[in-house]
Formats: sequence, structure tokens, C-alpha cells
Amino acid sequence: MCGIVGYIGREQAAPILLEGLSRLEYRGYDSAGVAVYDQGADTLSVHKAKGRLKVLSDQIEGGATVPGTVGLGHTRWATHGAPSDVNSHPQVSRSGKIAVVHNGIIENYAELKAFLSEQGVPFTSETDTEVVAQLIEYFYEGDLLDAVGRVLRRIEGAYALGILCSDAPDQLIAVRKDSPLILGYGEGCSFLASDVTAILRHTRQVSYMEDGELAVLTRDGIQCYNHLMQPISKEIVQVDWEVDAAEKGGYEHFMFKEIMEQPEALRRCISPRIRDGEVYFENFSLEDDYIRGLDKIYIVACGSSYHVGMVGKYHLERLTRKPVEVALASEFRYMEPIVGPNTLVIVISQSGETLDTMAALREAHRLGAKILSIVNVVGSSIARESDQVLYTWAGPEIAVATTKAYSTQLALINLLALRFARILGTITPEAYGAALEGFRQLPDMVEQVLSHRDDIQYFASQYFNHNSVFFIGRNVDYALGLEGSLKLKEISYIHSEAYASGELKHGTISLIEEGTLVIALSTYGPLFQKAMSNVVEVKSRGADVLALTTDSHREEMGRTADAVVTIPDIHELMLPSLGVVPLQLFAYYVALMRGCDIDKPRNLAKSVTVE
Ligand code: G6P
Repeated sequence: MCGIVGYIGREQAAPILLEGLSRLEYRGYDSAGVAVYDQGADTLSVHKAKGRLKVLSDQIEGGATVPGTVGLGHTRWATHGAPSDVNSHPQVSRSGKIAVVHNGIIENYAELKAFLSEQGVPFTSETDTEVVAQLIEYFYEGDLLDAVGRVLRRIEGAYALGILCSDAPDQLIAVRKDSPLILGYGEGCSFLASDVTAILRHTRQVSYMEDGELAVLTRDGIQCYNHLMQPISKEIVQVDWEVDAAEKGGYEHFMFKEIMEQPEALRRCISPRIRDGEVYFENFSLEDDYIRGLDKIYIVACGSSYHVGMVGKYHLERLTRKPVEVALASEFRYMEPIVGPNTLVIVISQSGETLDTMAALREAHRLGAKILSIVNVVGSSIARESDQVLYTWAGPEIAVATTKAYSTQLALINLLALRFARILGTITPEAYGAALEGFRQLPDMVEQVLSHRDDIQYFASQYFNHNSVFFIGRNVDYALGLEGSLKLKEISYIHSEAYASGELKHGTISLIEEGTLVIALSTYGPLFQKAMSNVVEVKSRGADVLALTTDSHREEMGRTADAVVTIPDIHELMLPSLGVVPLQLFAYYVALMRGCDIDKPRNLAKSVTVE
């Protein structure tokens, strides 16, 4: 996601900042910028450019044209406001005195912006970050630390902040809450960075900031404070890993890194969307009456996004009692879909650029439907052409096989189902509250499932040399099976198929023979007994069954299946969100054991812009 680097020392800052930012490029970004204090002019000079870091670097000749020995740099991956020069960071206050770089999301930025606007503060960008810069200036009465403290008491959300003020150019301020930030100690210089990679060339002595901590960096050292602004001393650790390893967060593959990032991605996606006991969507323009008047909902997508749509159909229909159809985008536009002004078309796309999905969106628009899209990449074509966008805020996904984008898409469609049910009056307040509690628990539960990854690795070692695998399940477990099967086949090249369990006996069961691997998914409680009978069916034909169920069904499943993986019991709506994690890990470990090119599987592309 976004990257931060800050430097205060005796050397020219801009080249150091650019070099640090280049180390963060792997995280994905769409624009970059630096702010450096120019002592001669007694101002902050700010340079920002949309696009690759090279664009910025060329503008300022690798930093040579920017004087000054203290500054901040940032690579931005858009969340609030499209990628553009003006929305890039650093964001500065109205007088140009205060510059801020920020990773994360300020959840209450709209209220704060409204407040500042009423006070006559002009805004130039669409970002949530500008609100922080403006608010610091609003409270600033000559004591920067005091102003920052007052701002921190008012902002909500996740943030790693770097702050530079031309009135106090002998210091940088760093603040962390729910978004990583590290401090680096050099000879006559100090650093801050969102990722250790950015500063490894200069120092290996670092401290990791904790939530709620603030640090003041000077040329002579760093003073840290806790959330009560009491001085604290931090442990300094020696980093002994190499830059290459750090760029994947120490992981061997982006896919694994992204699997492990899911709890954080889910928190970022869900937490701003639940407020005061209600599901809340930013800038939501679909009116309640429009939703009540819908006669049908269509979900249109490709690949894994389509599988999210499959789960979404079960949940939306169950909760809202509105008919929901799911269509592959490549089919939708040629099937003369029955779509009109009373149809909402939900388009799901990580990249926001998939050509078939885009074409389906345009066809639905032509037929008079409104489009709500669930998209990861801000400002992408699909986002721009939709009537309503919900961003997943998963951060950039680099591995071809999607993981964290899938999970956040799923979280959003579930939140949407819940909100629609609330509007339509098809859910009781108790059931609504219970579902919200499920959302609250989800990121921690995903973390719990991830912590048992060694078990999955063990099962992968038992099964990685199979050449054919069947995933079976009913209802949402069938939809989950489609995703588990796709994950496995796309990165391990094992032939794999997903079947609705009840459909096996109409043909496919003839393929089950001694030793065939069947992955039986049975997380959905109401159909557990039905799923069990399908397990018995394939077992009696010689299948080797690896089952996925919930903790409460482990024992019963264990009596029939050869091996059982479980997920914690959680609200029904969240089961596929937990269930997908072991399937992602299984595909990953199997592909690893088969020596496959995990992040770039053969013949596949991350963003498919051809029909
Ligand atoms: C490609 C990717 C899949 C993705 C699909 C749809 O095939 O490899 O992981 O699910 O495109 O992409 P989208 O960006 O529209 O979600």
C-alpha cells in the first residue's frame, strides 16, 4: 500500500527520500511526492507527481534541485480521491507551513472537513490526509507538538503519520495507530519509514513504533512518547535481513504475504463501515426507496470475483428476499439479460479494468440499470463508470492469484446484504446485531485460522502429488469450493473441479475411485448432515477425504473423513470468509511443494483486458 519515508540529518534530503521511496515501489502505488524544508527560502518545497517515481525523480533531477536536509517522502496508493498530482502526498496546510504524509484511512475525515470548511479553511484535494494537515494548522499556536496532540484526540481510524513544519524545521514528528511505522537511528541523522526496506541502506538500528505512540526525530536522536505524551524509551533492534527479503515482508512470495495480510485488510475494509451499530457506506447515493423498489439484483464478475458473487447471491437472497442472479461477465452481455431501471447490477472487480466486466457494466447501463461496483483499485475504469462504488481498501495485490481482494470483496457484499436487509425490514434487530458482532470478530478469527497454517502445510505435504482433486459442498460451501478449486488449479496446475455435493451422483461420482482426493466443505451448519451423507457416498467408493468444517463439527466429521481441518464457529454470514483461508493456504503449499511459479502462474494475467 502507501509508503512513507522521512529523513532529518546533514546531507541533502531529497535524494535520500527518493532512494527510500524506490525501495517501497514493490508495494504498489500510483503517485509519489516529497516535501523538504528549504532553509534559504524558509519554506517547504513540495514536489508531487502522478505515475511512476521516475516521473517525480526526473522533475527534480534525482533530488539535486531540491535543497534542504530534512524532509518527507511518500508513495500513494489511492483510497480517498483518484490518483492525481493534487491528491498525492505530502499534503500541506493552507499556509504551506505544515506537510503531512499518511498511510491508512481517517474514518471521520468528512465531519472534520465539514467543520474546517465552516471555519473558512479551503481544501485543494479530495484526500482524508489533507484534513490532518489543515487541522494541525487550525490548532497551531506556536507549539507543534501541542497542535498534533489536539488533532490526535479528534481523528479516528488507522494512521501512520509523518509531519514536518517550517516553523520547527529541526524536527520531524511521527505518529502510529494501526498502520506500521518504524524509526531509524543513524550518525547525526534520524529516519522514519513505513517499512524497514526504505532505510536499510542508511541504518540497521531501528525501533518499531506501537499503536498510540508519537516520536520526535531530530539530528541528534529520537524521543518517543506514549499515548499520554509521557516520554518512553524504545528498544533499538538490529535488522540483519537483506533488502530483497524485506520487500516481500520477509516472505518468499507475494501470494503468501497477501494471505497473511488478510486480517489487516479486513480491518481496513470493515471498521470504517460499522458506526454506532449500523452499516455505513461512505458517499452512498442509492436511496432507500430505490432499494425497496428493486425487482431484481444481478451480480456480474469474472474469476474469483465471480465466486464472491456466488456467495453474495446466497447471502443477499437469504437476507433480503429479493431475487439475485449471478452471471459471468463474459456471458452476461451476450445473453440478452432481463435488466431494467428496477434492476441493480453489482459489478465486482479487484482491478476495475477487466474488459468483460467493463463491457457487462456498459451493457447494463445501456439497459437502464444502476451499477454498484465493488472495486479495489481507486479511480479504475469500472469505478469511474459506476453509479456507486464501494472500495475494498485491500491494498495493492501483486500475486496473480487473488486472496486479500477476494476476502474484502466478500466482506463488502455481506455488509451490503445486511444494509439492504435493514432498509427492507427483512432482518430483526437481534439478527442484525448478531451479524455486526460477527463482522467485528472476523479479522481476529482470520488471524486465528492463519496461526494454524502448519496443519495445512502438513496436509499439503500429504496430498501435493495428486493429479486430480474434487471440491464438494452445498450452498455457500459449494461457492467456496469453486474458489478453493480455482486457487489450486491456477497455481499448482493440478486438475481440479468443484461440484455441488448433491449433483455428484448425476455423473461425476463415476470418476471417484480408490485414492481420489475429495476436499469436502461443510462449514454451513444447517446442511451439515446432508454434507456428511455425501462424504459417506464418496468414501464408500474409495475416495481419500480431506474435510473442512467448524470446530463444533470436528468430532462427527472425524469419524468419517480421513483428515479434518476446522475453522472457529462464527456467525453464519462469515463462514465462507473464514473457510477460504485454509483453501488459499492449501493451494499455496501444494504449489510450493510442486515447485511452481506461485506469483506468476503460466498463461495467467493479473488484469485481463482482452475479451
Ligand atoms: C484474472 C485474475 C483473477 C481474477 C480475475 C478477475 O483472471 O487472475 O484472480 O479473479 O482476473 O479480475 P478482477 O480484477 O476483475 O477481479
